[in-house]
Amino acid sequence: MTRDEIIKGLTVLDPSELFAEADRVRRECVGDEVHLRGLVEFSNVCGRDCLYCGLRRSNKEIVRYGMDMAGVFETARIACEMGYRSVVLQSGESARYPTEEIAGLVRRIKKDLGLAVTLSLGERSRETYAAWREAGADRYLLRFETSSREIFQRLKPDSSYDERMQCLRSLRELDFQVGSGIMVGLPSQTPEIIADDILLMKDLDLDMIGIGPFIPNPDTPLAGEKGGCLDLTLRTLALIRIVTRNAHIPATTAMGSIDPQGRQKALRCGANVLMPNVTPTQYREHYQLYPGKICIKDRPGDCMLCITGMVASLGRTVAQGPGHSLKRPVSGAV
Ligand code: 5AD
Ligand code: FES
Repeated sequence: MTRDEIIKGLTVLDPSELFAEADRVRRECVGDEVHLRGLVEFSNVCGRDCLYCGLRRSNKEIVRYGMDMAGVFETARIACEMGYRSVVLQSGESARYPTEEIAGLVRRIKKDLGLAVTLSLGERSRETYAAWREAGADRYLLRFETSSREIFQRLKPDSSYDERMQCLRSLRELDFQVGSGIMVGLPSQTPEIIADDILLMKDLDLDMIGIGPFIPNPDTPLAGEKGGCLDLTLRTLALIRIVTRNAHIPATTAMGSIDPQGRQKALRCGANVLMPNVTPTQYREHYQLYPGKICIKDRPGDCMLCITGMVASLGRTVAQGPGHSLKRPVSGAV
């Protein structure tokens, strides 16, 4: 697809043909199976000050928490028992957890539980990434958030676009399965910028692509902004599916938070992954990147039931394997 064709897809009056085409490509390239990843949000401590995010360090309205590694392992063990074959360990970006502590956790999860492990801990040094890969981490998620340098710099005043891109390159060189993505509906984002985002995703040859609507958080400087709508998010998702063919693409929590049918709709226009929350309930309300986040009162088992019901109601099946990348051979695959 050319840039102009992508822009047309983002702006055309009726997207139903686009959605049908994305669903067809999804079925042909990744099949009817939906992969589940249990999401553990183990710390909301963050050293950065991104304007859009509720975890930003200037936000004094939230209670900060950080689970210890024994607690994270126990959470992963429970997820494993519930049937998950893959966990995502996510936190705010901070050096609170030293490289070796995370490496030890990863080693233990790989050895005792045999789960696929995805880390989502922000920007760290290449040496740290290498140590985590060495410990057995399979995948890493780091959204580039926007391909517009100007918007990136404004929304992430203490980060650098080039450094983030360098992180993504390092992760690829270290043989991680790499996931990245964007928010849709950021202030001053245009269809042209989203088209460039999509072309960059293709260029990076990402194994996984996570996107969601930007949802203004009242405790951040972007409180008064408009935010992204589901329609534009779904168009973006559909175009990403068509352009990247066999990338793993989740129906994200943010989509489910702005529309009760958001994730179901996403699964019908390109998505093939769900990331149910397995964080212990007592921490969930404190991990609010944005308001209105779903599932904050639920227990891990509730989300598993809800998700399996959702998948079945769409006539799809829950995948039983770890759901590795379909883009390239995976070393150390479990
Ligand atoms: N609305 C939607 N998504 C958000 N994220 C952070 N803040 C918000 C928000 N206000 C997303 C970012 C980040 C991911 C973990 O959550 O894209 O990479
Ligand atoms: Fe948590 Fe539906 S996914 S209750």
